[in-house]
Formats: sequence, C-alpha cells, structure tokens
Amino acid sequence: MSVSQSGSTTYTGAQEGANAARGLWSSRLAFILAATGSAVGLGNIWKFPYITGEHGGGAFVLVYLLCIAVVGIPIMMGEVLIGRRGGRSPVNSIRLIAERDKLNPMWRMIGAVGVLAGFLILSFYSVIGGWAASYVGTAASGQLVGQSADAIGAIFSGLLSDPLTLLMWHTVFMALVMVVVARGVRSGLERAVSILMPGLFVLLLMVVGYAMTTGEFGRAAAFLFQPDFSKLTTSGVLVALGHAFFTLSLGMAVMMAYGSYLPKKVSIAKTSITVSIIDTGVALLAGLAIFPIVFANGLEPGAGPGLIFQTLPLAFGQMPMGSLFGTLFFVLLIFAAWTSGISLLEPIVEWLEEQKGMNRTVSTLGAGLVCWALGIASILSLNLWSDFTPLGAFAMFEGKTIFDLLDFFTANILLPLGGLMVAVFVGWVMSSQAVKNELSLSEPMFRLWYTTVRYFTPVAVAAVFIYNLL
Ligand code: PFF
Repeated sequence: MSVSQSGSTTYTGAQEGANAARGLWSSRLAFILAATGSAVGLGNIWKFPYITGEHGGGAFVLVYLLCIAVVGIPIMMGEVLIGRRGGRSPVNSIRLIAERDKLNPMWRMIGAVGVLAGFLILSFYSVIGGWAASYVGTAASGQLVGQSADAIGAIFSGLLSDPLTLLMWHTVFMALVMVVVARGVRSGLERAVSILMPGLFVLLLMVVGYAMTTGEFGRAAAFLFQPDFSKLTTSGVLVALGHAFFTLSLGMAVMMAYGSYLPKKVSIAKTSITVSIIDTGVALLAGLAIFPIVFANGLEPGAGPGLIFQTLPLAFGQMPMGSLFGTLFFVLLIFAAWTSGISLLEPIVEWLEEQKGMNRTVSTLGAGLVCWALGIASILSLNLWSDFTPLGAFAMFEGKTIFDLLDFFTANILLPLGGLMVAVFVGWVMSSQAVKNELSLSEPMFRLWYTTVRYFTPVAVAAVFIYNLL
C-alpha cells in the first residue's frame, strides 16, 4: 500500500531492493537448507526425546536449550567463519588460514577429529536409520492398526532380536548415503530438503494434534518444561552438552565445509541462528508429540533408544488414516536421516580425496564399507552381544554395550572436543581483525560473541568434562 501511495519512483526503487534481496536470499537459503538437512535428523526425533526421558525431563531440557544458545550457536558461527575465510575443505581451510596468519599447522587436527567422529557416528547412525526404514513396511502393511502398547513393544523387540533384518536395513541405509556421496550431487538434495522438511514438520504437528486428544498433553508439557532440578545429574549435563553438538552437527567440521560456499555478504550470525532455531523447534515438537503418548499409555519415559518406536506407532495405529500417515512419517524420517548421513560421510570422502589422492568413487566405497562393517558391531550389541560391555570395569562405562560406547564417545567426548578446538582457534589463535571482518557484527554483538567463544565456551566445555571424569 505504501508503495502505491509514494509514487512511481519509490516503487521502482523498492522493486530493485526486493530483487537484490531475493538474489541474496536464495544463496542464503541454499546454505540454510544444506545446514538444516545436516542438523535435522535422528538426533531431533529419535535421540532428543529418549535422552530427555532418561534424564528426567524439564531441567535437562533447560540445560540443553542453554547449551544450544551459549555454546552451540557461538561455535556454529565459529565453524562457518573458518570455512568461509578459508574457502576450501575443512582441513585445507585451516591450513590456509594457518599459513596466511603464520600459525601452527597442527590446527588441521580439528579436521582429523571430524573425520574420526564421522566414521564412528555414521556406523551406528545408519543402524538407527535402518530401524526407521523397517517401520515404513510395518506401517504400510497396516500392522499397527489398533494395536495395544504391548503388541507395539513386541514388534520393536522382534526387530532388535533379528540381526539379519537389522543388517539388511543398515545396508540399505548405508547404500543410499554412499550413492549420493559418490555422485557428489548436492543441488537436487537442497530442493528436496525444501519440500520434505516442511512435510516432516507438518506430520509432527499432526501427531502433536493427536497427542492433545490423549488427555495427557498437560502432563507431557509439564514434564518437558517444568524443571525439577532434583532430577538433574552431572552426567545429564554432559549428555545435554554433547547433544547440543550432535544435533547441530558441530565439532566435526561439517558446518565449516558448508560455510566455505557461503557468499561474503551473508550474515553468519543470522544464518546460524536460523538453522539452530529450526533444529531446536523440530526437537521440541518431537517431544510434544511423544510424551503425551508415553503418559497416556503408562509407558516408561526412560525406556531408552526404542522410545519413539514404541510410542509413535501407537499413535499411528489409533488415528484415522494412520497407516498412510505412519508410512509417510517414517519415509520422511529416513529422508531427514539420509541428508544427515550424507553430511557425515562427505567430509571423510573429501579428506581421502585430498590427502590420499583417491578418486571419489573409490574413497566413498572404502569409507562407506568401513562404516558399514563397524555398524555390524552396533547391530550385534542389540542382540547377540547385548551382555558384552567391553569397558564395564570402569564405573563410568558400566553396562554400556558397543553401541552405547560409540554413542557416548562421539557425542559426549569427540564432538565437544572438536567444538572446543574451534572455539580456541577462532577466539585465541586467528587474528581478531580477520574474525571481526568475517562476522561483520555491530560492536556490542561482536564483543558478546567474542567473549563467549574466548572464555565462556572453553571453560564450560572443560568444566563439564572434568566434572564428569572425577
Ligand atoms: N545432526 C544430526 C542429527 O541430529 O541427527 C547428526 C549429525 C550429522 C551429527 C552430522 C554430526 C554431524 F556432523
């Protein structure tokens, strides 16, 4: 309206402005889509609800949200800025910055930690992706319709006790990831993320809508958002911190790799905050979808990694057209896991290409097969090796199977360590002028971020580590 009132000159000006903004926005959007594709995955829908259930709800959620805000977002900005400044793959970006600023080339180790973490995470991530894949068939065949909680629980235990079926789906998931990485396709994926992610969001909203009818929505909301600090343990704080890294794909140089494609004019702070808000929104929505079902059916919130596979199928079994929506939901969940899986394998393949001079197909096959083989250990620890706890002699690892150990070591140790190195690198090692130019924030905002990555983040991560080891 104001355009037509202010005459034609202003109108033209406004349009030019809009076009320029649109041009910029599309490249900003491409980054946001790729980064969201990596961040939103099993971590949000599978892991967040079950660790929240295991650690008592509200207080854990609050710590997790704090970790996202004061550790996750600042580190994401750090990763993106290293990537954009270097303009190469993570290892080479850091080497380039180190050469340019005459720093110790050992900082390349940040990339190496990432490669190791990627291997280990993808090995078990693919097994869980396989669970989701197997539920597509379960939902589509109408097996969930009208089932009791016990029957749904039996379907899940049946899956876990069958190593061959698990292996088959793990193989399918890994193959899907490898095909995309080997072909190096990115553009199609971004378009797909822009359609399928909103789809997943809508389906989650539908389950939340259903969950509201169970009568236990209020109890679930209180469980998630009313902190009871007596339930918070130090290990809960470590898990919340580790999950902030895991869910935002931080600490393994993924955001660094994506940042290298970000145009100079785009605000690193705004894009990082946008990705983090979307990611956190999906996780909270998953919590609101699942806990009403948990309470309405007398299930155990701390049931562990099977939580969503014992609750969501109940909802799909009871709602109208549940088989259709259930099938769709698990397809979209696989898709979300797929885009995250690709971002886990990609840095390893890039590293093999650059450091070992292998071609893309060979490096994808090599790295993918090693991850696949390692995944077999996770599969067996769900059944035949379920009593095998290799580090059980240490109190901290008591009762942890290989699968649990891989999850613990990557999310709670390796990723925070990678993140700590990023914080120290951008806060203490890189030239502050270079960092400032890259972020182009207002002076007070820059000060706030800089103080956070220099002091707060390293101290917080180190304190949580030390507290847990003592
Ligand atoms: N962020 C992904 C999720 O929440 O499912 C998992 C992940 C992907 C972690 C990529 C780390 C990573 F580098």
